[in-house]
Amino acid sequence: MAEQEQVGTVAGGDPIEASAVYPAGSRVSERGHLELAGCDTVELAAELGTPAYLYAEDDMRARARAYRDAFERRSSDFEILFASKSLPCTAAYRLFAEEGLSVDVASGGELHMALRAGFDPDRIHMHGNNKTDEEILFAARSGIRHLILDSCDEIERCERLLDEPQKVLIRVTPGIKPSTHDYITTGQLDSKFGFGIADGLAARAIERVLASDVLELVGLHAHIGSQIFELEPYTLAIRALGELAGEWCRVVNVGGGLGVAYTAADAPPSIDAYVDVKVRGVAEVFGDGVRILIEPGRSLVANAGVTAYRVGTVKEIPGVRTYVAVDGGMSDNMRPMLYGSRYEALVADRAAAPADTLVTIAGMHCESGDILVRDAMLAEPTVGDVLVTPATGAYGHAMASNYNGVTRPPVVFCRDGEARVVVRRETYGDLTSRDV
Ligand SMILES: Cc1ncc(COP(=O)(O)O)c(C=O)c1O
Repeated sequence: MAEQEQVGTVAGGDPIEASAVYPAGSRVSERGHLELAGCDTVELAAELGTPAYLYAEDDMRARARAYRDAFERRSSDFEILFASKSLPCTAAYRLFAEEGLSVDVASGGELHMALRAGFDPDRIHMHGNNKTDEEILFAARSGIRHLILDSCDEIERCERLLDEPQKVLIRVTPGIKPSTHDYITTGQLDSKFGFGIADGLAARAIERVLASDVLELVGLHAHIGSQIFELEPYTLAIRALGELAGEWCRVVNVGGGLGVAYTAADAPPSIDAYVDVKVRGVAEVFGDGVRILIEPGRSLVANAGVTAYRVGTVKEIPGVRTYVAVDGGMSDNMRPMLYGSRYEALVADRAAAPADTLVTIAGMHCESGDILVRDAMLAEPTVGDVLVTPATGAYGHAMASNYNGVTRPPVVFCRDGEARVVVRRETYGDLTSRDV
C-alpha cells in the first residue's frame, strides 16, 4: 500500500483519533494498521500472539490525572482509590500508585497483589460482602487504612478476631437504583451488599460499631452501581448517607460507577462533571472537615485497552448471517454474556477501509452464547486478519477464565512505540500446575 495518510473511521463515522471508545492517541498508521500508543497492533499480534490485551499506558495515567485535577480544583481533602477489581495486575497497581492514587481491594488475593506491587498499606481500603476470617486478619495485620464493614456477621467476626484497633467504614445501601444493568446495581435495599437505611439496619450497625472496643468507626461508604450515565443518583445517595452521619463521620466514600463509552453511541458524563457532583454533594450534606473518597475502576482503564484477536474462520450462512470466529471469546471477555454488553470491532490490518460488511463475531468456546459482538459492521474480514475490540480494558483480564482449557492472554502496556508484557500469556503447563 502506498505510504499515505490513512483516516480510519469507527462506528458512528468518527475518525479513530476522535473516538471516545479507543485509547487516546490511537490512529491509523501509514500502512493502514491500527496503531495504539505508537505501537502497530498488527505487528504486536504477530509478535506476541493473540488474543492479547493491549493498553495505552499514558491513557490510564491521563485519566488518573483528570480525576486528581478535578478534585484539586474543588477540594483539599480527598482520596482517589483505584478499584482494582477492574484490572488486577502488578503493573496497574504500580501505575496508579505512581499517579498518587490509593487502592480498593475486594479480596485477600487483591490485597496480596496490591501489597506485592508495593502499595503503601495505609493507602489500601478493603471491601467484600463475605470476608473470611483469614482475609480480615490479613488486612488488619497488614495495616490497611479502612476495612469496609458489610454485614452484622462481619462486625461480630471482626470483634472476635481483632485485638488491635482497626479503622472502619460502614457500607450502606442508600436505596438508590440508577439506570444500568441489574447485575451491576448495588445501592438498592434488595442487595447482597451493605446495610440498608430503609430497614434500619445501617443505624443499628452504626450504634453497634460505635460501642466497639476494637472497631473505630470513621465514616460511611456507598457504591450504587457501575456503568452509570446519570449524575443525579449520586446526589440522592449522598443525601441518604447524610441521614446517618454523626460527629464520628470524618470520611465519606461515595464509590465508583462512572460509565464509559463502549460504543460511539455512548456519551458518559466527563470525569470533571462526575467529580463536581460528588464534591458538591458531600459539601452540601456533610459540610467542611469531611474527607471525600471515590473508587473508580472502569473509567480509569476500560477505554485505555483493546483486545487483539486473530480471525480463524468466516462462515457465511446465506440469508441468515456471517459468523467471524476469533481465537478468544467468553474466556477473555465475559461482559457480553453476563450483561449483554455491546462492543465495537475493527479489522486492525485495514483500519481505514470502509466498514461495509455485516457480521457476527463469535468466540471459540463450546457455547452458542459465546458471541462477542452481534451484528458488527467490519471491513470485509478474512481468515488471518487481526480483529480488535476496543474498550475492553476493564473487567476483561479481571474476569478471564480457562474455560475449554484456554490459556489466559497476556496484558501488554504500550507507550511511545514500545510495548512491554506486564502479565505473560499462560502456558499449557500453567493449566496443570495446580493439579496434585
Ligand atoms: C464497592 C465498589 N467500588 C468500586 C467499584 C468500581 O466501580 P466502577 O468500575 O464502575 O468504577 C465497584 C464495582 O463494582 C464496587 O463494587
